Amino acid sequence: MFFWTVTNQTISPDGVARPVLLVNDMFPGPRIDVNRGDYITVVVENKLSVPTSFHWHGFLMKNSPWYDGVPGQNQCPIPPGANFTYTFATDDLVGTFWWHAHFENQYIDGLWGPMVIRDTPELDPYLDHYNQELVVMLSDWFHQPTGVLLQHYLSKASNGREPVPNNGLINGKGFFNCSNVQPADLPCEQLRRGHERALFRFESGFKYRLRIINTGAAASWIYSIDNHTMQVIEVDGVYVDPVMVDRLPINAGQRYSVIVEADQELRNYWMRAELGKDCLPKTPTNMDPVVKAIVRYEGAGRYEPTTHGRVPDNDPNNPSFVEACVDLDPLLLKPMDVQPIYEPVAKHVNLKISFHMDPIDGFVRGYMNNITYRADPWKPTIHQNLDDIRTFNNDMHVVVIDQPGEVVQVVLDNEGGDEHPYHLHGHVFQVVAQGTGRYEEGKTPLMTANPVRRDTATVPRDGYAVIRFKTDNPGVWALHCHIEWHVSVGLVMQFLELPDQLRKMGIPRQVRELCDSGRPEGFSPDTGFLPPTPPIPPGK
Ligand code: C2O
Repeated sequence: MFFWTVTNQTISPDGVARPVLLVNDMFPGPRIDVNRGDYITVVVENKLSVPTSFHWHGFLMKNSPWYDGVPGQNQCPIPPGANFTYTFATDDLVGTFWWHAHFENQYIDGLWGPMVIRDTPELDPYLDHYNQELVVMLSDWFHQPTGVLLQHYLSKASNGREPVPNNGLINGKGFFNCSNVQPADLPCEQLRRGHERALFRFESGFKYRLRIINTGAAASWIYSIDNHTMQVIEVDGVYVDPVMVDRLPINAGQRYSVIVEADQELRNYWMRAELGKDCLPKTPTNMDPVVKAIVRYEGAGRYEPTTHGRVPDNDPNNPSFVEACVDLDPLLLKPMDVQPIYEPVAKHVNLKISFHMDPIDGFVRGYMNNITYRADPWKPTIHQNLDDIRTFNNDMHVVVIDQPGEVVQVVLDNEGGDEHPYHLHGHVFQVVAQGTGRYEEGKTPLMTANPVRRDTATVPRDGYAVIRFKTDNPGVWALHCHIEWHVSVGLVMQFLELPDQLRKMGIPRQVRELCDSGRPEGFSPDTGFLPPTPPIPPGK
């Protein structure tokens, strides 16, 4: 049982002070650590002046879809001053997960943390392969509150250009040179040496399982530790056969476990998260594209590492500097629990991703099949389904899947110039095709032999990702781009899965009561709780 109090705070993780939202005054937020088969209860006390909600990224939420945390889909937001209790099972999952707020863009402001489901020793194929485990959270970081950035982004003036991060953090820590702060009047206090970076202690000869989570809002990272190789053993909660890599690309929402052996000379080494610069907007930024933490071998002095990365820092001309934001080759990732491709496909869902000016808002929004998602957070689909409503507002982008045990194939087709890490709630899907160009049903070859299963996969720029899952989980499940800025401009849809079974399950009283207070004043379905126009461009 976990007790969480959500409050407004001001912190300066990299020296720049800014308002944030925190759980229990912690940044990153509290870690949820449980064992296979456990049930989790989180009591949330919302002490913010705005509503909130929490999502358990990667969890299946079987028999508790109303605790999945998506306002407008499976719950109403938790009002200011209220308490709400999430209870859910870990189902058959083990591995590395995370939690984050799922109301508006609150997680960018600090509401996230890690979740680990440890396996039973007899069932864990890798338990003997490491001595200790560590969590590594990579996140981009913005020096201004999300509300300020959104005010500009959700306007004509942004021309659809997303806010660009100012820094990156590893486990909530990062170095920032105060002379680069933008706008220049933001309060910045240069952190003392030794306080500005996360420190990981290695014992010579030990092996570590690093649970790497991209908890960021937008950036895709390429992760590495100088002089060390890594063995990938887990992908989004799925054990895979070991794969050796030097550098590991990890996109927003994704997780990997790697085993690293402390088999190098006794000294200090840089741990690096290199920005996938190719997939950020080409706006000038004050950000150092290489975010670092320190790996200190036990016995090494307290000096800064002097090691070099595999790719010379900041050398975009070096061909091995992987800047294209693509997933680790899915063909390398073979789940240990072998499952052939899910067949036959009974339901085809083809989603074409695009961005263009919205005739209603007048600013650039994201579309799937020409629908830009707008849902009333106080009218969740799951409640409407309970009330036997069968046709939904077009803007809610509901796709009904009503046959149990069927295979659903989703083609994510992206002709645009940005990549999109897509996350599906309530399921672990197979990635059966992923590449550039156009996907052609029946022509594009599929990965049929034991395709990788995960819950977040990147749709490359000018490319496609094809995923399959089985309908076995009544609920309302979001499918969305995990670039949180794209969530705010509509790159979201939802599956209403097995509506008849779902209706029979009812909805617990405390979940229904969340909707009693109704939609508060000052909330717009397009821009949320933002103050009205005119927008103030950040930095002006
Ligand atoms: Cu991690 Cu709907 O998100």
